[in-house]
Amino acid sequence: MNTLVLTAHPDLSSSSINRRWFEALSNVAGITTRDLMAVGGPEMHFDPAVEQALLQKADRVVLQFPFYWYSSPPVLKAWLDQVLLFGYAYGPGGNKLRGKELMLVISTGGPAESYAADSYNSFSIPEFLTPFQQTATMVGMTYLSPFVLHSAMGRDQSLIEASIPAVISHITTPGIATNRIVSQARKTA
Ligand SMILES: Cc1cc2nc3c(=O)[nH]c(=O)nc-3n(C[C@H](O)[C@H](O)[C@H](O)COP(=O)(O)O)c2cc1C
Repeated sequence: MNTLVLTAHPDLSSSSINRRWFEALSNVAGITTRDLMAVGGPEMHFDPAVEQALLQKADRVVLQFPFYWYSSPPVLKAWLDQVLLFGYAYGPGGNKLRGKELMLVISTGGPAESYAADSYNSFSIPEFLTPFQQTATMVGMTYLSPFVLHSAMGRDQSLIEASIPAVISHITTPGIATNRIVSQARKTA
């Protein structure tokens, strides 16, 4: 299985967790890592032909990022907007990603219990991630269960190191698709 890991962090040099994941994943056979800020530069400009050629070689695409304001840092949005084009990822002839897998690997500052209807983040992580899930569906990719590391800020180095085998295992294990139905209770009229 060929896996492409796209790391979306505004400054990996200042990162504790995503930098270590990026470094560790870069040494795993079958995984190609890509630091999107290093590729796109401060203007976050991507060459779709280059990015699409990398996607074509991948069976599994992993989007790795710190959770920022309940989503990804902007470089990932820039990459999606510039690469998943009409006629490539959707629309007539836009079937080039069909059959591939998409997985998210994220770190959050908030603890696991905060991502619930009765806590301060109000919604679950799968609910916050629905735009990514639907993007996968739209382009015909299988959306796999995400890997989430909570309470990411201020973790001591030994806990960060301990997360590395778990991340590698999650990314390299044959996928179980998540078909969870994410919906909020609706008020009946
Ligand atoms: C601009 C910004 C926005 C953030 N938004 C969230 C958020 O919405 N939810 C959350 O749990 N943590 C949030 N955090 C905390 C980050 O997720 C946390 O710092 C990151 O996962 C640590 O990873 P790193 O060591 O690779 O930078 C935010 C941090 C920053 C700087």
